[in-house]
Amino acid sequence: MEKFQIEGGYKLNGSIRISGAKNAALPILMSTLLVDGVSTISNVPHLNDVTTTLALLGTLGSSTTITDKLEVQIDATNIHSYKAPYDLVKTMRASILVLGPLLGRFGKADVSLPGGCAIGSRPVDLHLKGMQTLGAEIDVNDGYIRARTKDGLKGAKILMDTVSVGATENILMAAILAKGITTIENAAREPEVVDLAQCLIAMGANISGAGTDVITIQGVDKLQSASYKVQPDRIETGTYLVAAAITRGKVLLKDTNPELLEAVILKLRETGAEIKTGVDWIELDMKGNRPKAVSIKTAPYPGFPTDMQAQFTALNSIASGTSTIKENIFENRFMHINEMQRMGANISIDGNTAICVGVKTLKSAQVMATDLRASASLVLTGLVAEGSTIVDRIYHIDRGYDCIEEKLHALGAKLKRVS
Ligand code: EPZ
Repeated sequence: MEKFQIEGGYKLNGSIRISGAKNAALPILMSTLLVDGVSTISNVPHLNDVTTTLALLGTLGSSTTITDKLEVQIDATNIHSYKAPYDLVKTMRASILVLGPLLGRFGKADVSLPGGCAIGSRPVDLHLKGMQTLGAEIDVNDGYIRARTKDGLKGAKILMDTVSVGATENILMAAILAKGITTIENAAREPEVVDLAQCLIAMGANISGAGTDVITIQGVDKLQSASYKVQPDRIETGTYLVAAAITRGKVLLKDTNPELLEAVILKLRETGAEIKTGVDWIELDMKGNRPKAVSIKTAPYPGFPTDMQAQFTALNSIASGTSTIKENIFENRFMHINEMQRMGANISIDGNTAICVGVKTLKSAQVMATDLRASASLVLTGLVAEGSTIVDRIYHIDRGYDCIEEKLHALGAKLKRVS
């Protein structure tokens, strides 16, 4: 299994470009199933999860072409299967997002249940309830969700018990071709939901309220071919900002959008970072100083993102002062902490709260993470630890960070991929 070997102690310095957002690209690629024609999606990051998504769309009958401008063209004219098989769903939970578009356009879908996950139980009950409220009949048998409609989906009022990004996206996609009006109340307000809605609008959907907690969809008969550019990845952006802060360095991130990560920028300023922003760039300068500890509580957008919690735990582990880190979204998202403790971090866990007393130095170790952001956080600790850190199982990182070695090299980090 591939690993990263990281020599710690180098301040990051330089400039890189931020890629398209994984968590926007995945639902947007799935949404092409709604179009009886060709969709052209640009700024798609080069990631294993994108490859899995294109493979899944391929099994359903979509054909994909990558243009010379690296746009992804997906032709969903000849869909001939309605089944998302276990083999693909088990490698990527976001495969559940084919449910809404398949049901909306064809009235049928068989999707393997995703099962458990390293960061929590992650049920899909809200996805299923939403589809049922739109009129689908759902059976769960032999590990598969079997969803059918007799006469197409019908618009309805859906009140979400919990704010869920994926369920909001799935229901949104299902409702596009439904008859009548659908309202999703207590909808997720994440920028990725807004990006999906904007893509669907470009395809001819009638949606209002995306980015607020009530989304209204007036069903339309069909969608048409469109071109759409995926928004910048706010979590990749935040991760490189933390990489600069933790190493007391200075980075300029281009092709990003500071408006998408206000909560993160606010917290980074509290660490002592000087941050300047423009329309599509962010510069962070630590002026060589050790970061100050900052307490965080994860929350749905516009709160502090759970996908940045592990990276801030890494930052706090070597910051001056004590911080508390409260994880409110997923029940098991502290797996990185045991590994950080092995590197000398002083962190204790009490339920969903971690108490972190910043230490002056971390020591290298061989560490391993069980999910994407945890792996990224261990790379961050490796960048500051004394000696040579090995981060094992980096296939997690390849699911979500486009060209991470190249980008870190461009910023002056010393790391290499070893097997
Ligand atoms: C999305 O996952 C992201 N994934 C996650 O990013 C992110 O951590 C998460 O949203 C929260 O922001 C993608 O966009 C592909 P949720 P999702 O449904 O949609 C509970 C990363 O590292 N819930 O908003 O699966 C659930 O258990 C990944 O890039 C139900 O109870 O998350 C959780 O506690 C990891 N029933 C909460 O809602 C449901 O039917 C929020 O989860 C659905 C969710």
